Amino acid sequence: MRHLSIALGTRPEIIKLAPIIRRLRDKKIPLTLIHTNQHYDHILDGVFFEELDLPPPTHHLHAAAGSHGEMFGKMFPAFEKVWTEDRPEAVIVQGDTNSSFAAALIATRLRIPVAHVEAGLRSDDWDMPEEANRVMTDHLANRLYAPTEEHAARLLGEGIAPEKILVTGNTIADAVTEHRVIAKKAALPAALSSYAGTRFALLTLHRPALVDDPVKLRSMLTATDELLVSESMRGVLLTHPRTRKQLGDTPLPLKALAIEEPIGYLPMLKLFQDAAIIITDSGGLQEEAAILQIPCVTVRENTERPETLKAGGNRIVGFDHAALQQAVHDFLHGTINWKPLYSVAHPSDMIVADLLSHFPCASS
Ligand code: UD1
Ligand code: UDP
Repeated sequence: MRHLSIALGTRPEIIKLAPIIRRLRDKKIPLTLIHTNQHYDHILDGVFFEELDLPPPTHHLHAAAGSHGEMFGKMFPAFEKVWTEDRPEAVIVQGDTNSSFAAALIATRLRIPVAHVEAGLRSDDWDMPEEANRVMTDHLANRLYAPTEEHAARLLGEGIAPEKILVTGNTIADAVTEHRVIAKKAALPAALSSYAGTRFALLTLHRPALVDDPVKLRSMLTATDELLVSESMRGVLLTHPRTRKQLGDTPLPLKALAIEEPIGYLPMLKLFQDAAIIITDSGGLQEEAAILQIPCVTVRENTERPETLKAGGNRIVGFDHAALQQAVHDFLHGTINWKPLYSVAHPSDMIVADLLSHFPCASS
């Protein structure tokens, strides 16, 4: 049967593809959902299918692995088998993970068109595994959905044909707006309930450049704790498994910063409501902070999301403790002149309309 196939594998892909999946399902478009299981813990995976009202994956590839080579070695033949047996009209991928690149490469080898959601992002930092994934996926894709004009310009500058590119905004905007209202009633896990209604800093850190160096990670957390004490506020770090593994069992002597498990998307949106500041190296959190107008300090050397800097409330501080302290101080004690982030009101509507016009596959 003619159908579209969506490939995904990690937390941010599930969250950002959710508004597209729901629209395609509601239009009764035949769909397969191929989950690589790059992320597999319930709190990084299943919880989002439940909370975001998504159909369960049609295929699980069980391709999580320690090294990237090993992961690709599991993903490539698994995608090839699924799409050779049941060939879709097009494959839809999101972002810059190993899962999205593996899907784009195998679809292209099978001469199945690829649509790339969140195209054109560039950090120009090839130490990030995501940079190679982004560049390669964009150059394989047949439809490229760029969040902003600047991302589209980057694609044009790399020689990608203009007729393949559409500026759509970012589907994270739909994910935030479509769940904000129900999130108000969501329960926070017991460990986080005391943060509701208080002024606190919300932290997530998972990039290898920081967390794979235990000394750098620990000193960054200690410096953050000290600055929270000096600002008389609390903070909470929601740990990614990569970060949790690096922290190990030796507790850090922290006074104001708590280290907690990751949470689902509805509690996350609820936490955002009260967060005074976000400190992160996450791509998604930089965007959500700018959408929700929460000041954000980005603990990285660069960002592939320059629109969040232009919006006025994101600052890059690298791994410099003094710069982190200054940025937090400036944001907490200053005012931000927020500017609009994306030019498109409903990214997922635009993307679904474009998909169905290029790859028609009406039900039955
Ligand atoms: C991946 C993506 C990154 C994205 C992030 C979102 C790549 C190269 N990286 O990074 O772009 O920002 O997801 O969170 O694709 N682990 C668990 N449980 C899980 C998932 C992972 O314990 O459910 C462990 C893995 O065993 C591994 C580590 O966490 O040891 C890292 O997982 P991996 O998927 O390799 O990369 P992420 O750091 O999650
Ligand atoms: N997120 C979540 N629970 C958490 C931490 C993050 O729901 O405990 C959400 C967050 O709001 C954002 C997405 O996960 O939508 C970001 O994922 P991540 O930081 O893992 O990946 P990145 O965006 O950096 O690729």
